[in-house]
Amino acid sequence: MSQVQVEYSLPAGDGTERIARAWARVPLTPTPAQRAQQKARAAALLAENDAVLVAHFYVDGDIQDLALETGGCVADSLEMARFGRDHQAQTLVVAGVRFMGETAKILSPDKRILAPDLDATCSLDLGCPPDAFAAFCDANPDRTVVVYANTSAAVKARADWMVTSSCALAIVRDLAAKGEKILWAPDRHLGDYIARETGADMLMWNGACVVHEEFKGIELELLRAEHPGARVLVHPEAPASVVAQADVVGSTSQLLKAVIEGEAREYIVATDNGIFHRMGQLAPGKTLIEAPTAGDSATCKSCAHCPWMAMNDLVGVIDALERGTGEIHVPEPVRARALGPIERMLAFVAEHPESLVAPVRGFVPHLGSA
Ligand code: 13P
Ligand code: SF4
Repeated sequence: MSQVQVEYSLPAGDGTERIARAWARVPLTPTPAQRAQQKARAAALLAENDAVLVAHFYVDGDIQDLALETGGCVADSLEMARFGRDHQAQTLVVAGVRFMGETAKILSPDKRILAPDLDATCSLDLGCPPDAFAAFCDANPDRTVVVYANTSAAVKARADWMVTSSCALAIVRDLAAKGEKILWAPDRHLGDYIARETGADMLMWNGACVVHEEFKGIELELLRAEHPGARVLVHPEAPASVVAQADVVGSTSQLLKAVIEGEAREYIVATDNGIFHRMGQLAPGKTLIEAPTAGDSATCKSCAHCPWMAMNDLVGVIDALERGTGEIHVPEPVRARALGPIERMLAFVAEHPESLVAPVRGFVPHLGSA
């Protein structure tokens, strides 16, 4: 089995942090004939098991296509959670990373939740260990604890609210308007973006996404100069110098919608390049350009593709359904405590559907490295 090593920042919660290392499996690349055969086998197993495939936009294109061809979904993390909760199937195969499967289990404890690879994790989840995070919360008891979906069940269990990138801004704005001070974890770039937009008083955990942190503001400025008509779409896990150049900032679903509905012909997209599969399908006449991850002065760790999302392959889907590998379990006391913050978010978005509209902004010149 081949692997890649991934470095990520591991904050201690006391203002210090160190570089830690994790690994990700690199799946074998099937031949076209193998792909077709695996896809047919996986489709048959989904039907036999009365199972549904819930996939994220960053996973392998064959898995995305299989999900849509078999009545499943391809979505952002909020929609994956809602789809899995509301679907009548008793087995969900969640193709994404571990926290997405855990969220499904927390919402639907009686369903069987399978992951194509249980070791598919996320640098934000790894970078926020539950014990250190609990100590951080204990040291700041006057703050409302808001955590991003990209965390373990144990971290969610310590929170008041869970949010995803599609609704984080609206929820924090609402809390700030009520005078609440926020303790935010784990993504510092998303947290900084929310604080800048809302003016909320936010104490931050210092985690980061290894994929989005690689996008470079200076190189993006150069690319924009080459494509003056292009709209710039940015996921808010990217650094401030990249977000400052965005026309639209939003979750993966919101960025997809911006391409489908946008009048421009060209789009520079600063998120994992797995999303280009669905964007290309839904907006076939548009030109999609990857935002730069590295220039002459930088090295590229992830090159705009999440090493853990890449672990999802059709063989993993088949193994999960055939042999029950990759079943997600969450201890009941943790699950019960983690449910409240997730349900609070789902109730908020159900009550405020307008909160899911991505912020559209004009480009602010010379804010590039702000
Ligand atoms: P979305 O909720 O926008 O799909 O983001 C999930 C994620 O992990 C982005 O890196
Ligand atoms: Fe986590 Fe980043 Fe991968 Fe999303 S892209 S799952 S935030 S490491």
